[in-house]
Amino acid sequence: MNDRGPILPGATLGVMGSGQLGRMFAIAARRMGYRVHTFSPDYDTPTGQVADKEVAASYDDENAVREFAKGIAVLTFEFENVPSQTVGWAAAHCPVRPSGNVLHICQHRLREKEFLAGAGVPVAPFSKIENAAQLASAAEHIGLPAVLKTAAFGYDGKGQRKLHAGDDLAEAWRPFEGQPAVLEKFIAFEREISVIVARGTDGAMTTWPVCENQHANHILDVTLCPARIPAAVADSARDLAKSIALALDLTGVLAVEMFLLADGRIFVNELAPRPHNSGHFSFDASVTSQFEQQVRAVCGLPLGSTESLRPSAMANLLGDLWSGGEPDWGAAAKFPEVKIHLYGKSAPKPGRKMGHLTAFGATVEEAAASVRAARAALLRQK
Ligand SMILES: Nc1ncnc2c1ncn2[C@@H]1O[C@H](COP(=O)(O)OP(=O)(O)O)[C@@H](O)[C@H]1O
Ligand SMILES: [Mg+2]
Repeated sequence: MNDRGPILPGATLGVMGSGQLGRMFAIAARRMGYRVHTFSPDYDTPTGQVADKEVAASYDDENAVREFAKGIAVLTFEFENVPSQTVGWAAAHCPVRPSGNVLHICQHRLREKEFLAGAGVPVAPFSKIENAAQLASAAEHIGLPAVLKTAAFGYDGKGQRKLHAGDDLAEAWRPFEGQPAVLEKFIAFEREISVIVARGTDGAMTTWPVCENQHANHILDVTLCPARIPAAVADSARDLAKSIALALDLTGVLAVEMFLLADGRIFVNELAPRPHNSGHFSFDASVTSQFEQQVRAVCGLPLGSTESLRPSAMANLLGDLWSGGEPDWGAAAKFPEVKIHLYGKSAPKPGRKMGHLTAFGATVEEAAASVRAARAALLRQK
């Protein structure tokens, strides 16, 4: 459905999923004069709070999905785990970008890894696991340590277990029983990096500078942009992300998480066919943010410049920060160059992403020190 020309400001954009990624998409879209409708099972959501319309219905509710799709010029996603059937219902009424096929690949680790390996993209050695016997033989030929992951619905390290030599594999398999899983070799990486790539309806592609991602308890903690890596490595990481977007025939935004080894080799870890936590810096630190680029890409507009305005660092604010009471926002606001982002979530559970801070600096080290200091200032002592 590319023949109708670009979808211009004033039109209504639909987003499935209603978390912070949809919220920032909606903010970018509304700034450009679009209207935004969001669809998810929940009400008073981060996205719904800033959208023109929030539909709270199940992804299995065919009538609700069709009605939603009839009221929008294009459908996009902030969450890749929308069932294929739901995407099919919507696609009968409006363009869907990225396509259902891209979602189908990226919502399942095994399909994703097979797709990547088939496209010649380097990934950690992996094997499909459906029972304890397969785990034992895969552990044998892949070698331990390795990471066992559920094929579907994992995020922030959920549904994963690292296996070491000597572990009781039958016991390790028990919580995974009944659902397909993947065993992959543990990669002793030097750094974790990510590249966010956007591809327009005309096939044009842009990437942001490479992000360097520091995790804590398997959850992204701090992102530095640009990553502290040689220019040649950054160029190959960006080229790799573009080659994946092309192989997927993507329209939209795609995040590519990668492991960088000490010898300069890169393995792709996973894909997310939407804006990504590691790209939040772009909201403040880039000419065009990942959210505006998603708007441009799915509307068939030319893509914007991904040039960075300043070196930056982003720190996630997890629910744990609320352990001593409401964080001291005034203390963080004392940092004149720190941007405060809150997602409008009311229940600050441990590990839940409640917001983030972005800081700038002459160097990424300076930005990272500043963002960490601002975050530390938020915490109230019990
Ligand atoms: N094969 C691996 N080798 C080394 N570390 C890994 C491996 N797989 C996952 N990890 C670590 O766990 C984190 C989360 O795993 P990931 O596959 O990205 O799942 P999630 O969907 O939870 O983000 C990664 O960012 C990385 O730090
Ligand atoms: Mg990940």
